[in-house]
Amino acid sequence: MNKKPLILGIESSCDETAASLVTENEQGIPIVLSNIVSSQEDVHKEFGGVVPELAARSHIEKIDWIVKKAINKSGKKIDEIDAIASTAGPGLIVCLSVGLSFGKTFAFTTNKPFIAVNHLEGHALSPKLNSKLDYPYLLLLISGGHSQYLSVQALGKYKRLGTTIDDALGEAFDKTAKLLEIEFPGGRKIEVLAKKGNPEKFELPKPIINKGGCNLSFAGLKTAVLKISKKIKNDQEKFDLAASFQKTIEEILYKKTIIAFNEFEKMNNPKEKKFVVAGGVAANKKIRAMLMKLCKEKDYQSIFPPIELCGDNAAMIAMVGLEKFKLKLFNDLDYPAKPRWQLDEDAAFLKGAGVQL
Ligand SMILES: Nc1ncnc2c1ncn2[C@@H]1O[C@H](COP(=O)(O)OP(=O)(O)OP(=O)(O)O)[C@@H](O)[C@H]1O
Ligand SMILES: [Mg+2]
Repeated sequence: MNKKPLILGIESSCDETAASLVTENEQGIPIVLSNIVSSQEDVHKEFGGVVPELAARSHIEKIDWIVKKAINKSGKKIDEIDAIASTAGPGLIVCLSVGLSFGKTFAFTTNKPFIAVNHLEGHALSPKLNSKLDYPYLLLLISGGHSQYLSVQALGKYKRLGTTIDDALGEAFDKTAKLLEIEFPGGRKIEVLAKKGNPEKFELPKPIINKGGCNLSFAGLKTAVLKISKKIKNDQEKFDLAASFQKTIEEILYKKTIIAFNEFEKMNNPKEKKFVVAGGVAANKKIRAMLMKLCKEKDYQSIFPPIELCGDNAAMIAMVGLEKFKLKLFNDLDYPAKPRWQLDEDAAFLKGAGVQL
């Protein structure tokens, strides 16, 4: 039996310090041997958002320990690791630099190959940690910094079909939570509060719902939430606003996903129609349920990463490392941190005032 590759993945692009060891089974399906994630929620709580310098300091303090813990938990020895994969972007440069430098140093001192990984590619391929998934597939990436529909053609080959022209969806959840005075990180708590509210209570806008193809926009929605939140008198109205926000997001994604399905089919004429939803917001159970139902209606297979692998983690980074290792796609040790590394590097910049849709 051939030795299966064993990859150490390291993630530090924002406010999670993470390390993981991943290998594959006889069927070629990636297997997570350890997955250690240390969140910095307590560090940033009092500021209501991520403070880059504090995040970087916290990564520096914890990274050795997190990597050591991931190796110990995997039951493997350093000698058995075949390559080190670190997130190189996108993200906060002071944070990226910590995991990237650690990974390069580890690779250099142990004389093993180094692999630079795009954090978004980690999210994009994260369902592979669970099951067999062949290309091409349609991806909806909904996270704290990105919201995009992408046609995933192969490892490293992405065609963007649509993107947010302003806020990311996770950002919209986080800002709404802040306006409702929910403690940081509040985005995921909206879903919980929404269960106690009336989703029909407030009529919220659905920006660019009838134009711009499958591009998305959430800034106008946030402004509407801001105006209503100032008039809220009691907890019930707070729950109603959370429920109305959650419902509006579901309606936007329903309509835009149908457009993305059409564009994906035109581009690929696929034999099997597969729809992957990944990134932190993919943990939202009501969004999942709505998209699963839509997939049934439109004859798509719906695929989600396990809930615990939707947010930032290093297993997804190690898994991209594993795919690259098999293709011998290694990087030099002078590989730079790339704070703005896009998946589809040919896609036009579509943000800010005056964007033509
Ligand atoms: N259940 C949930 N419902 C809605 N949003 C959620 C839920 N759980 C997490 N999120 C959101 O997911 C986001 C975090 O996701 P993730 O860790 O993938 O983002 P990021 O790494 O900060 O951004 P990116 O991956 O774009 O660089 C946060 O904005 C958070 O509010
Ligand atoms: Mg992320």
